[in-house]
Amino acid sequence: MNFMTKNAYKRFAPWLKKINNLEPKAASLSDSELAGKTEAFRRRCKNGKPPDALLPETFAVVREAAKRVIGQRHEDVQIIGGIALHFGKIAEMVTGEGKTLTAVLPAYLNGLSGRKVHVVTSNEYLAKRDRLWMGPIYEFLGMRVGVILPSSGYQDRQKAYEANITYGSYNEFVFDYLRDSRLISTKDDFQEFLNDLSGKQTIGPCQKELSYAIIDEIDSILIDAGTQPLSISEPIGIPAAVHIKAMQTALRLTKGVHFSLDEKKRSVEVFQEKIEEDGMLPYELVELGEDRWKSYIRSSLRALHVLEKDREYLVVNQRLIVVDPFTGRAAPNRSFGEGLQQALEVKENLPVSAETRPVLTTNYPLYFNHYSKLAGMTGTAKTEAKEFKKVLGLEVVSIPTFLPSKRRRGPDGVYATEAEKMNAIVQTIKGCQKEGRPVLVGANSVLKCEAVSQILSEWGIEHHVLSARRHEQEAEIIAQAGQTGRVTVVTNMAGRGVDIVLGEGVAELGGLHVIAIEHHDSRRIDDQLFGRAGRRGDPGSGQCFVSLDDDLFRIFRNNEKVQRLLTSVSKEKDDTGKLIQPKSVEKKIMEAQLFIQRYHFQLRKGLIKQADQIRKWRESDKYNPFADNWDHFVF
Ligand SMILES: Nc1ncnc2c1ncn2[C@@H]1O[C@H](COP(=O)(O)OP(=O)(O)OP(=O)(O)O)[C@@H](O)[C@H]1O
Ligand SMILES: [Mg+2]
Repeated sequence: MNFMTKNAYKRFAPWLKKINNLEPKAASLSDSELAGKTEAFRRRCKNGKPPDALLPETFAVVREAAKRVIGQRHEDVQIIGGIALHFGKIAEMVTGEGKTLTAVLPAYLNGLSGRKVHVVTSNEYLAKRDRLWMGPIYEFLGMRVGVILPSSGYQDRQKAYEANITYGSYNEFVFDYLRDSRLISTKDDFQEFLNDLSGKQTIGPCQKELSYAIIDEIDSILIDAGTQPLSISEPIGIPAAVHIKAMQTALRLTKGVHFSLDEKKRSVEVFQEKIEEDGMLPYELVELGEDRWKSYIRSSLRALHVLEKDREYLVVNQRLIVVDPFTGRAAPNRSFGEGLQQALEVKENLPVSAETRPVLTTNYPLYFNHYSKLAGMTGTAKTEAKEFKKVLGLEVVSIPTFLPSKRRRGPDGVYATEAEKMNAIVQTIKGCQKEGRPVLVGANSVLKCEAVSQILSEWGIEHHVLSARRHEQEAEIIAQAGQTGRVTVVTNMAGRGVDIVLGEGVAELGGLHVIAIEHHDSRRIDDQLFGRAGRRGDPGSGQCFVSLDDDLFRIFRNNEKVQRLLTSVSKEKDDTGKLIQPKSVEKKIMEAQLFIQRYHFQLRKGLIKQADQIRKWRESDKYNPFADNWDHFVF
């Protein structure tokens, strides 16, 4: 137990003691007496009892209810986690410790006053799973639970938001918010529309209030996806011919003469004067004005030279679909902005869609700042603790583990070339299969998953691939990943939060073995992948494989010193291609990850400043959390 975890225990020990002391009393109640507690708590809330005062009793009641309804009793560490969440902290609880069950404690307590509690998950599958899994506990206690899914229609959403506790993915919450605000900002037109509907005036904002949110996998939302602009858009009436002309022009431009390419930033600079001088522009583009044509040319060039099919986007049924860069999942509701979507459509020879313009934009940190109280959970937050404090004023509290972890992570297997690395991976998988141990293989992108899958097929290794294309089967595929002898290939992020239950006898064989076929840019995401094994004291193991061809080393491309080092270490290898002295390579990996982390932090800095102003405003006297939230939109 390190200093921080000891601290969490010490800090919340008095609460824990009270809750534990109440356990026998809660256990002695009949089912209906236990369920009847909710009404009594509600009355006390109404009479002005502050939620903190109800904490011990409510937690004891929820613990007892969970025990009876789903047969799981909150461990002390989960109670501590729940207290941290109630006090608006980020509870850092190791992967597999049971954060889902933990969240029920503060959700119930904070829902008693009638305020809406939103439990925000990182994807649709988890929202559905958590609602199904935890729902019966709330319902037993007489609380209403709802879930919003991408497929939910307007009325389903309204109903879900009326519940005391609403589960949903972060995407759904934020887009409902944007749609609601759009509705309000166009109220006049809207009133007319409503009048036309005569009598069917049921449409209005569906999110009632932004009161208390418990955000699962908070680092993935606020750090990894923190800068992603989230917009709702309307068509701007640019004809498809313009996008086609822009692409035709881009194809005739010369790199280094008419434009330059920055691989790291993944950006293109257009040399306007040179393009004009060489008379490259057709009339249709000139007519648009300088800003517009430059932006279309830039988009066409990015479509040609930067974005890759099956990596950044997919083509499904003649439609271009964005792949979320963080999860590797298809995001059919999203489209690329600034004409990039259309440029890609032209490139792929698809029907060109209407270009739209964002009318309202926000991002996750800004959206979640609107809540009166925020709490978060994740297995990996400590490294970003400073940023959480700064951006959202959230403190990270590390919670100790229930049982000591039995997960073993081997040292990286470092190979000179990609081919040697893949060969070693195949041998490892075959070894596990012989023992009957299941293997989870993680890759950074959909493209990589498919490449691995192909190699496995060539070797005759039966396996299951989870990728953007097979998104619908995600739950099924992952749920089975702990079965004897099974091999499952996933993108690193797809596995986040998914509970892999071991098949019969698998624990005795050593549990699940996780193989990362490469390091991710972010160490946290590496850790999340390895966190799929060895959950709650189960045995499990993991190893990352590295080759000097890996993408991560690309940032050292122009660094001669590092290049020399990599060349020299690549010569000292055994006959499988495994490097004899991988230490210096491992150091470079850490450096690269840190470098990229810092680089992304720079990108987020502007955002922090913005969020900082909001935080100040929230802390000022003028701020009334329960006033009409709609007056305070900041985009
Ligand atoms: N108190 C408990 N008693 C028995 N089993 C539990 C308890 N709490 C959690 N579990 C089990 O532990 C497993 C992991 O739970 P869960 O998926 O909520 O973990 P997590 O902390 O959210 O992990 P991740 O960081 O990967 O999302 C589940 O199978 C769950 O049923
Ligand atoms: Mg989880």
